[in-house]
Amino acid sequence: MTQIKFRPRRSCLYMPASNERALEKAKTLAADTIIFDLEDAVAPDAKEAARERACAALQSDEYGDRELVVRINAMDTPWFAKDLKQACLSQADAVLVPKILSADDIIQINRSIDELGTGLTTKLWAMIEMPQAILNLGDIAALGPNTRLTSFVMGFNDLAKEMRAVHNRSIFGPVMIQSVIAARAYGINIIDSVYNDFNDPVGLESECLEARKLGFDGKSLIHPVQIETANRIFAPDAEAIAEAEAIIAAFKDPVNAGKGVIVVDGKMTELLHLKQAKQLVATAEAIGALGK
Ligand code: COA
Ligand code: MG
Repeated sequence: MTQIKFRPRRSCLYMPASNERALEKAKTLAADTIIFDLEDAVAPDAKEAARERACAALQSDEYGDRELVVRINAMDTPWFAKDLKQACLSQADAVLVPKILSADDIIQINRSIDELGTGLTTKLWAMIEMPQAILNLGDIAALGPNTRLTSFVMGFNDLAKEMRAVHNRSIFGPVMIQSVIAARAYGINIIDSVYNDFNDPVGLESECLEARKLGFDGKSLIHPVQIETANRIFAPDAEAIAEAEAIIAAFKDPVNAGKGVIVVDGKMTELLHLKQAKQLVATAEAIGALGK
């Protein structure tokens, strides 16, 4: 299993790449990841200009530590090839490809990026939003270790449409669990879908909590007002950090040397918990180091 170097992705903010004000504002926002959208949020007539604007933003060096991702148009559209080429040559950290159906799609896109030239570091993120992708989750995720594929992003607006379901979060629980399991089996990151009602912080918080409990790394967002909630919920809180530090300290204690299981704060604690504790502290440190 490939281990991906840790980077916080608590808040992944979409913005239409056609929206100059949003692109400007993003330079000051505390989102871990910025997703310049060329797809759903951009009208057909604005696609070319949006692509140019996104590429100029990528090359501007004005977005600090933020991870910069471009959501390009789907493989069966007239914009796909140029979107992919320009985003990769502009050194996007990743291209997010919508409407992925199968492992073959990933193989094809991966090959197309490789053919653009040597030394390109752009990763591949896949939208999980089509019924076929849900059926093929395991096969798609299995390509993680041998391709540029590093992240899944759930797209429940499209999935609900494809299923002809009424968009209601409660129906997606099983899909969320299956997707996390597929992602984690192959070291892939996984980002939750958007919450459309951006004026409802309570609803957003409840979705963030649900996703965090299921193991998601973060949430995709549509408005700056949502960033604080996602950053807070997807970061380890003070209590969890203190607990993790106590576990690390207990295993370091010479009286526990060589032991596989000990008692910390009245609870059975095994080496797997030590590993988890170290991961949590590393996550907290990586978040703390942002913007420094
Ligand atoms: N990223 C960065 N900045 C954003 C933003 C975003 N996603 N959404 C809004 N802003 C900025 C606005 O430009 C405005 O900036 P200003 O103060 O410099 O004028 C400020 O935040 C306040 O915006 P507001 O007036 O509350 O929102 P709006 O009515 O202009 O836009 C949406 C509402 C939903 C249209 C807009 O938030 C949006 O386009 N979101 C992303 C949609 C998207 O990318 N969808 C695809 C994935 S599902
Ligand atoms: Mg969509």
